[in-house]
Amino acid sequence: MQTVNKVPELRDVIKTWRVAGASVAFVPTMGNLHAGHLKLVNEAKKKADYVVVSIFVNPAQFGAGEDFETYPRTEHEDREKLDAANTDLLFLPAVADIYAPDTKTVVTVTELSDLYCGVSRPGHFSGVATIVCKLFNIVQPNVALFGLKDFQQWVVIRTMVRDLNIPVEIIGVDTVRESNGLAMSSRNGYMTDAEKQVAPKLYQTLCAARDSVLMGVQSYPDIEWQALVFLEKAGFEPDYFSVCRSSDLKKATAEDLDLVLLAAAKLGKTRLIDNIYFSR
Ligand code: PAF
Repeated sequence: MQTVNKVPELRDVIKTWRVAGASVAFVPTMGNLHAGHLKLVNEAKKKADYVVVSIFVNPAQFGAGEDFETYPRTEHEDREKLDAANTDLLFLPAVADIYAPDTKTVVTVTELSDLYCGVSRPGHFSGVATIVCKLFNIVQPNVALFGLKDFQQWVVIRTMVRDLNIPVEIIGVDTVRESNGLAMSSRNGYMTDAEKQVAPKLYQTLCAARDSVLMGVQSYPDIEWQALVFLEKAGFEPDYFSVCRSSDLKKATAEDLDLVLLAAAKLGKTRLIDNIYFSR
C-alpha cells in the first residue's frame, strides 16, 4: 500500500490510474479503524479497480468541548489493517494540507443538518459536508462508501452530491456489530467496562421499537417516549429517539413504508448513536 500526505502527490498517483482507464473507489475515515471500516474497504474493492482510503481527523466537524484533541489516533495499527485489506492508496494529510489558514468556504446542507445530531452538535454536519466535498474534489472517485451507522450523515452526503451535481456514486454499507449488538464505533473505546455492559441496550431498544412498528403500533410518539424512558432507566442520558422516513428523515406518519429509527444517547462521557432501517 502506498501512502501519500500531500494533495499534489495524491493527484499524480490517481492520474496514472485514470490514464490507464481505471476506476477509483474512495473510503473517507477519521482513522482508529475497526471491522466496520474494513467492511467499507472490502465493499470498495468490489466496486472499482483501485481503492483509496483517507484518514483525517477533521477539526471542522468537532464542536467546542468535543473530543477533537483526544480522538483516538492509531496510525500505525490503521496502516497495518489497511495494508492487510489490500488498500491501494492511503491519503494521510495534515490539517494544513487540507485547510488554508484563512479558509472561507463552508458547505451546508440546509434543514437536514439541523435535525437530530445537528441539534446537539451545531455545525457538525457543515463540517462533514465541507470535508467530504473537499475530499471528493481531491480524489475525484467514481464511487464513495459510507457506513450506515451514521445514517443522518449518509443522507446529508447523498443530498449534497445531488444538489451540487458531484459525479460520485454514494454507497451505504450496513453497520457492523459486536456479538452483543453494539454498533462498532471508534468512540466505543471511551467506555468503561461497566458502560460496555449497558451499551448494547441502545440497539435492543431500537429492535424493540422496530418490532412495535412491525406489529402495527401506529402511535410513533408513544414508541419514541417509551424508548426514551427505557434508555433513561438503563442508565443512558438520551438525546433523541425518533421514528423517521428513511428518504428525508422527516417524522414518519402511518402512511410511510420505508422507515429508519434514529437514536442517540450518552453513556457516561461517551455519546453513542445507532439506527435501524426497515420497510413495513
Ligand atoms: O464518518 C466519518 O468518519 C467522518 O464523518 C467522515 C465521513 C470521514 C468525514 O470526516
